Amino acid sequence: MVMDSPSGVPLFCSSAAVLRWGCSAWAASVRNRALSSARRGSLPPAALVPSASAAAPPPPPSSPPSPPPDHDPADTTSIDAYNAWIEAVQADRNAGAATSSSRAASAMDGTLPALADMATPPPFSHPSLFHDGVEEYAMAATTPPSAAFVGIAQATAAAGLFAPCMVGGLEGKFLTFVAAMSGASRVLDVGTFTGYSALAFAEGLSGADAEVVTIEADPTAADVAQAAFDATPAGARVRLLRGDARVVVAGMVEAGEKFDLVFLDADKGNYGAYYEAGLSMLADGGTLLADNALCSLLYAPDDPVRNSLHTFAQRVAADPRVEQVMLPVREGILLVRKVASPDG
Ligand SMILES: C[S@@+](CC[C@H](N)C(=O)[O-])C[C@H]1O[C@@H](n2cnc3c(N)ncnc32)[C@H](O)[C@@H]1O
Repeated sequence: MVMDSPSGVPLFCSSAAVLRWGCSAWAASVRNRALSSARRGSLPPAALVPSASAAAPPPPPSSPPSPPPDHDPADTTSIDAYNAWIEAVQADRNAGAATSSSRAASAMDGTLPALADMATPPPFSHPSLFHDGVEEYAMAATTPPSAAFVGIAQATAAAGLFAPCMVGGLEGKFLTFVAAMSGASRVLDVGTFTGYSALAFAEGLSGADAEVVTIEADPTAADVAQAAFDATPAGARVRLLRGDARVVVAGMVEAGEKFDLVFLDADKGNYGAYYEAGLSMLADGGTLLADNALCSLLYAPDDPVRNSLHTFAQRVAADPRVEQVMLPVREGILLVRKVASPDG
């Protein structure tokens, strides 16, 4: 269920929503989600909540294959040594039906089930997409967030807002990379919260006219975000619009606005509407990113947002106007871009 504020705007990360429902409005009702939200990466690795119920790591192979007699496992410097290492050390990883290599083969021979054939998301009993330690290790290997983001995290906590709503350090750096790699100059960020994703995009932009337009309905979160934007040079590239994104975005479409990147991270139940609006505003070569797209696996089976995210993914997969890639980063990011029609 999506909780509506008195103004009719669904609340997701406001204090009221957190008290009653958790970050995603329904989070507190589900152990799965609370754990997965705590892993959103906005917290320093040491503060991440360990998952008591995460899937146990697979047992080590009972008998590792014997290396060739003259093989030094540490030597991968020649192609022969490399092939010997694959055979001796890595082969066991590729054994069995549930390995990534056999899944890749299934994808190549077309035997993977089609999303369109899944009436509901498949059962998934884990609180996170990852085994314990994966995100922590990935964050440790990623350039740490700048001081501005530490400030956002502190201000978010000080305002009593639910920190795991932020995209956090790992996904935030990914968004900075997307902005920088794409050469984007205009970004639309739907669902500001306290400003993390907007500022992450802003740090990846260059050019005098570069701008991130971000929309937030919750006044407390918007105040924290604006203060963060005011406190850092990259924040000067961010324009915060307060109000219901459903209304604001519709107005942008009417006004003929164009964006190079569109990031959806507000009310998940309205992703379909934001998707249509976002596609219509995407400049040629632009990309739309939908956050939390794999919460269709993580949310509880009785959570309507689980199915609405699944329906959204099916809709995108069936849309001949686009091509897309679902990235298992954080809680899933669906990247979508328009493709040229056969008529050009
Ligand atoms: C998951 S948080 C966004 C997190 C943000 N991208 C970040 O990195 O910190 C979702 C935000 O969307 C806002 N929101 C939800 N529905 C909205 C709507 N219809 N209009 C505007 N804001 C909305 C919530 O108040 C909340 O702050």
